[in-house]
Amino acid sequence: MQFPQGFLWGAATAAYQIEGSPLADGAGASIWHRFSHTPGTILNGDTGDVACDHYRRWQEDIEWMKRLGLNAYRFSVAWGRVLPTGRGAVNHKGLDFYKRLVDGLLQAGITPMITLYHWDLPAELQDCGGWANRDCAKWFADYACFMFRELGDRVPLWATLNEPWVVMALGYLWGQHAPGMRDIGAAAKAGHHLLLGHGKAVQAFRAQGLPNARIGIVTNLGPQQPASDSPQDQMVAALWHNFINRYFLDPIFRGEYPDTVINFIGEFAPKAAPDDMRIIQSQIDFLGVNYYTRNVLAYDASDPIGSRTVFQEGKLHTEMGWEVYPEGLYEILKWVYEEYGEIPLYITENGAAFPDTPNPQGEVDDPLRVDYIRTHLEQAHRAIREGVPLKGYFYWSLMDNFEWAFGYSKRFGLLYVDFETQKRTMKSSGRWYAEFIAGQRR
Ligand code: FCB
Repeated sequence: MQFPQGFLWGAATAAYQIEGSPLADGAGASIWHRFSHTPGTILNGDTGDVACDHYRRWQEDIEWMKRLGLNAYRFSVAWGRVLPTGRGAVNHKGLDFYKRLVDGLLQAGITPMITLYHWDLPAELQDCGGWANRDCAKWFADYACFMFRELGDRVPLWATLNEPWVVMALGYLWGQHAPGMRDIGAAAKAGHHLLLGHGKAVQAFRAQGLPNARIGIVTNLGPQQPASDSPQDQMVAALWHNFINRYFLDPIFRGEYPDTVINFIGEFAPKAAPDDMRIIQSQIDFLGVNYYTRNVLAYDASDPIGSRTVFQEGKLHTEMGWEVYPEGLYEILKWVYEEYGEIPLYITENGAAFPDTPNPQGEVDDPLRVDYIRTHLEQAHRAIREGVPLKGYFYWSLMDNFEWAFGYSKRFGLLYVDFETQKRTMKSSGRWYAEFIAGQRR
């Protein structure tokens, strides 16, 4: 399995999941800080107060990346570290943290990819309505523009948003994520304003004229397949496919929302102002694909949405309850390529949580994760052989971390983290990945 020259071999993280010290050095609280401190929201009452203590241990973490042989690293900037209230006054100490991190990565020969928004909106902006407020698109673009000015000369890869679908659905519609809302109208507005913020940020990026930097967005995608060939199962699978896979990509690539979803949400459908779709369609340089699993769907009249996910008996499932389905990575990459054309793609997240436990010698053997990575890389390679312009792979995650509503109960890392001592241990999957990457370089 030889991947193309210049392929990026990375791992991914997000600020709130690893950094800890959420209020250090003048940072403003984020909605995730607030949410995780609200009783009953997170499993075991966990918070990101300490997480992997990466805010203080970032140098050690770069050493681990070197040991893994990574040539790329995707991380996110906590908006509120840089702009504590989300707009206006700059907190230079917070900004300096990311400058040091970027310089450290470059020195180590590791290409940084920055995600500008990985879900930690400054809490003050939520008090003004968050993404449900149209102004949030502008606040985001101003923050993005500031980051391009500060780091655009050194950071070659920029992603505006991580998984806007998850922000909209889990944050505003179903309430499992911050800000914990359950309001379909607010959700549809948030979705639209996320897109608008993305488009405005892309425009700000172009206006900076950064010759060596490229910009894109990261979306969660996956096959949504019917449980049978009955017309009803096919109909619900198509609806979910349009909702999950097309709802953000159709506007970006075509300037329109998918009809079926718009008809389904009826009176709550987002209302675009005259220029919005043109802004949202601003040309991007790459698309980031986060792939974890597929969904097999059946019609179910008793469900409010009219469907249910059918558990795949006999198939391996991760700790998240997600079916391991490597072919889905190939299928979704091919679909994106056939649907939206020649855009360079990165797998910006792919990974699995398994119940890792150190043995008495302190080693962590995780053969299931080795298989997970290997079989997904095989499918990525298959897509490349068929012409898909895939440029890199970022495993989720560099290290075990705060898995949102599941707290520290789900371990996705290549590095095992002992959350009592903050000791990192490379799992066998980390060693396997390091060897695989080294083999690609030969
Ligand atoms: C994705 C998120 C990432 C991580 C993985 C498991 O949806 O982008 O932060 O939580 O899932």
